[in-house]
Amino acid sequence: MKTGLIHCGDCLVQLKSFRADCVDLVYIDPPFNSNRNYSTEGNDDEKRQFEDKFDNVAAYLDYMKPRLKELHRVLKPTGSFYYHCDWHASHYVKVLLDGEDLFGYGNFQNEIAWCYRSGGANPKKRFSRKHDIILLYSKTADYTFNGLREKSYNRGLKPYRFKGVTEFEDEAGWYTEVGMKDYWEINMVGRTSRERLDYPTQKPEALLERIISASSNEGDIVLDAFCGSGTTLAVAQKLKREWIGIDISPAACKLATRRLHQLRL
Ligand SMILES: C[S@@+](CC[C@H](N)C(=O)[O-])C[C@H]1O[C@@H](n2cnc3c(N)ncnc32)[C@H](O)[C@@H]1O
Repeated sequence: MKTGLIHCGDCLVQLKSFRADCVDLVYIDPPFNSNRNYSTEGNDDEKRQFEDKFDNVAAYLDYMKPRLKELHRVLKPTGSFYYHCDWHASHYVKVLLDGEDLFGYGNFQNEIAWCYRSGGANPKKRFSRKHDIILLYSKTADYTFNGLREKSYNRGLKPYRFKGVTEFEDEAGWYTEVGMKDYWEINMVGRTSRERLDYPTQKPEALLERIISASSNEGDIVLDAFCGSGTTLAVAQKLKREWIGIDISPAACKLATRRLHQLRL
């Protein structure tokens, strides 16, 4: 499989030319069924936009299903699949992915909550919606997973001194290291962030670093079939993975190509 390429076009069409079982990791951050039109003016006077409007949830799922079938087909038996979405459709998407004609209920591994802070109005009649959902499926029971660790601070930030438990101390206090949990607090790409490329819904590199580190090894092939500004591809490149991107928007492909070119200089 040729890597280091960004294919411009509908991923349904592009994926048909990929052979079966050829990529190690798929991450997608497709339209969410949010009923919005996302756009920002790029620096190069090219409008960076995409529409996320479907008549109803059924129409959204009908649109996604054939694309998901292709993604499932191209994933290696040892591969993993991450679907980034939010409250608009995550529950319907899970039912779809649980189907035996896709990943199957038994191959569901995690529902990751990506928690962030962002501005916006304070709703009066419900809680503020401040997380996205990322569904993780493996293709089979035998899949790559490099467990990540995180700090768990001791109560009172003091040492416990339990027998056989290794403890560490940093500027905040004493902690142990535990297996990473399924809720991740990671900042969004803010207005002043150095990562910012002015692409609507651009995701932070730190989020993709976790996904790619956990579910692939150096030299593996990472595919993002809705790659937008190329966040997944840039992180894959930094982590010494091979990568393939697809996006239907010529402006997105141009931006992602420039991003990757600058990284490879
Ligand atoms: C939410 S954005 C992805 C943002 C990306 N994760 C980033 O960090 O920049 C969704 C992308 O899907 C693309 N898209 C929508 N429908 C598509 C399709 N059928 N095939 C390929 N790309 C598509 C849009 O052009 C848009 O760039």
